[in-house]
Amino acid sequence: MAEENKMDKIIGFCKRRGFVYPSSEIYGGFAAVYDYGPYGVELKNAIRDAWWKNMVKDREDIVGLDAAIFMLPKVWEASGHVGGFADPLSECKKCHTRSRVDHLLEDAGVFADEKMSEEEINKIFNENKKKIKCLKCGGSDFSEARSFNLLVKSNLGNFTGDWDKEPTYLRGETCQGIYVNFKNVLDSARVRVPFGIAQIGKAFRNEITARQFIFRTREFEQMEMQYFVHPSVAAKEYERWKEERWKFYAEDLGFDAKNLRWHEHENLVFYAKAAFDIEYNYPFGFKELEGVHNRSDYDLTQHAKFSGEDLSYLDPQTKEKFVPWVVETSAGLNRTLLAVICEAYNEEDVGEGDVRVVLKLKKELAPVKVAVFPLLKNKPQLVEKAKEIFNGLKTKHTCEFDDNGNVGKRYRRQDEIGTPYCITVDFDTIEKDNSVTVRDRDTMKQERVGVGELAGYFHQKFNL
Ligand code: GAP
Repeated sequence: MAEENKMDKIIGFCKRRGFVYPSSEIYGGFAAVYDYGPYGVELKNAIRDAWWKNMVKDREDIVGLDAAIFMLPKVWEASGHVGGFADPLSECKKCHTRSRVDHLLEDAGVFADEKMSEEEINKIFNENKKKIKCLKCGGSDFSEARSFNLLVKSNLGNFTGDWDKEPTYLRGETCQGIYVNFKNVLDSARVRVPFGIAQIGKAFRNEITARQFIFRTREFEQMEMQYFVHPSVAAKEYERWKEERWKFYAEDLGFDAKNLRWHEHENLVFYAKAAFDIEYNYPFGFKELEGVHNRSDYDLTQHAKFSGEDLSYLDPQTKEKFVPWVVETSAGLNRTLLAVICEAYNEEDVGEGDVRVVLKLKKELAPVKVAVFPLLKNKPQLVEKAKEIFNGLKTKHTCEFDDNGNVGKRYRRQDEIGTPYCITVDFDTIEKDNSVTVRDRDTMKQERVGVGELAGYFHQKFNL
């Protein structure tokens, strides 16, 4: 399958099978915003749970947090976002479309890192202007690049009407909620440096160009963890977290290592001392999935300065007082979901010109874990027995009952959404041995399992 083709297929598949819909579609759509359908939300929750398990539940030194999306605007001044969180934009003089300069460069085959400083990007832009074409009309006459701040403004709590001048922002990254609660967590939870605070939540950015489906959107979810350490161990902890995060993708999500790679940032964003991205090999190329950053004491120092609060830490043993350094791991939930789908999407030739679409998801991530079918929908005994099995299993696993069409078609429908197991209740179940057929998504092999053993069988299959 050609890679461009694969992306189009995945976008169509996501809509057709209820994973991802364009926002406000009946009104013509709303650029760079997407909604998650019945299977999409299950998959997103499963990825979120896997991250939370890996980062919070399985560790003793990391606690969770759920900070509000809205924060005092001063937080965003302290963080540097009001002043420095901007992309350089240029306008096509022919069709007046504004595009990100790094995207124009990328399209012209000129290397540009989206995290380069504005000055550097502008320099490369000016040097290569002749090669660059407007992404919309193909024109080649552009305005000088100008910075465009990515923070999304709102009028929350401002009743003067002049909210553009005194905006409240929708958070541009979740980690600021962690920094401003550092002292609260320290004072209220049983934590000692080194320790981490993890959070999953929405973030908003006024992204200029909507590109690559759910890869870059204006509303998205981040899964971030800030690990607070003594400055002397920050470099070592940084290396440890790089390894941990790689393992999450390779082991917990089961990505093939050849689809993952590291990308080091030579030009660092304003807060970082060191930054590596884990990139995934999407159908449109290797792109950032997660950033692992050494943020030094930048954020706590800034918030201490702007708030007047002392955000240093007193080591109870050594009595040393210091401002902890932060190692940050920052992943995008939506980008991870897209990578999970790209990794799992397969079209298999099953002979006689027939193609089976199958989502080979890790079992634990599948939106539906077990599907239950009565062989025939017009035989009340079969339907009743299948319902009984379905009702018994659904309290433990996400299950789906399907009696529509022939069993072959039902298998196909479940293969497409990645359901690892399908149970069929047939006449032998009722008349002979009270056993059912369990069919495996990947091998397509079937085995008979006694109805009484099903709970234990799936308990084992899902490593519970
Ligand atoms: N707190 C650090 C931070 O926010 P970032 O590299 O700007 O760093 C971290 O973002 C992650 O958030 C990215 O690796 C990506 O997965 C996700 N992300 C960022 N912008 C996004 C967008 N517009 N749409 C979807 N995901 C995005």
